[in-house]
Amino acid sequence: MTTKAPVITIDGPSGSGKGTIAKLVADKLGYSLLDSGALYRLTALAALDAEVDLADEKRVAEIAANLDIRFAIAGGEVSAVLAGKDVSRDIRMERVSMAASKVAALPAVREALLQRQRDFRELPGLVADGRDMGTTVFPDAPVKVFLTASAEERARRRFDQLQGRGVSVSLRDLLEDIRARDDRDMNRATSPLAPAEDAVVLDSTDIDIEGVLQQVLELVQERIS
Ligand code: DC
Repeated sequence: MTTKAPVITIDGPSGSGKGTIAKLVADKLGYSLLDSGALYRLTALAALDAEVDLADEKRVAEIAANLDIRFAIAGGEVSAVLAGKDVSRDIRMERVSMAASKVAALPAVREALLQRQRDFRELPGLVADGRDMGTTVFPDAPVKVFLTASAEERARRRFDQLQGRGVSVSLRDLLEDIRARDDRDMNRATSPLAPAEDAVVLDSTDIDIEGVLQQVLELVQERIS
C-alpha cells in the first residue's frame, strides 16, 4: 500500500492572510505549496488575453484544461509562468481578480482544474490554499484550517499593501470589491466558499501572522505524526 502524502488545507476569503500562512507553513515543514487561486487567475488571464467571453463556460473550461503553466521558485518567491512568460504581477491586477471570481463560478472550469490540483500532492506533504481545498479537492486532508477576518480588516490590509506599492485606491471601493467577491464566492452553486465540517476556523482579525502560524503548527503536531 502506498502512503498518501499528508495535506494541510488552508481555505478562506481573499485577504484573510491564508496565502502568507500557507507559504510560512510550507517553508517550515519543507512541504510543497499549491496556490489554487493562481490557477483560477491564470485561467482568467488566458481567457481575457484570448478575448473569450467569460460567460462561455465551454471555451473557458477548454482554456483551463489546456493551460501551459508552471510555478517557478527562486529566492523563496513563487512565480507563475504562463506559456513561458512570468505573469506573477499580471494575475494580481484588479481586473484579473474580478475575472477569476467569474470563471471560478463555472462548474466545467472547476472540474477541469480538479485533477491538476490533486497532482500537486507529493511527499513529504502539501500545503494547499484556496476556497474548497478541504471540502472538495482534498477531503481526506488530516489538517484543515478555515481562516477568516472581517471584510473591513481585509480591505484595510489590501489598502496598505497597494499604498505600499504606490497604487492609489479608495478604501471604500476596495471594501465594495471584497464584499462583491465574497458574495460570489460564497453563493455559487459549485464548491462555494465554506468551512469543511472538520475544519478548524481561525479568525485573523485580531491575531497577527505569527499567532496564526503558531496555531496551525500546533494542529499539524497533533494530527500529523
Ligand atoms: O485566492 P485568490 O484571491 O487568488 O483566488 C482568486 C479567485 O479564485 C477568487 O475569486 C476565488 C477563486 N478560487 C476558487 O474559487 N477556488 C479556489 N480553490 C481558489 C480560488
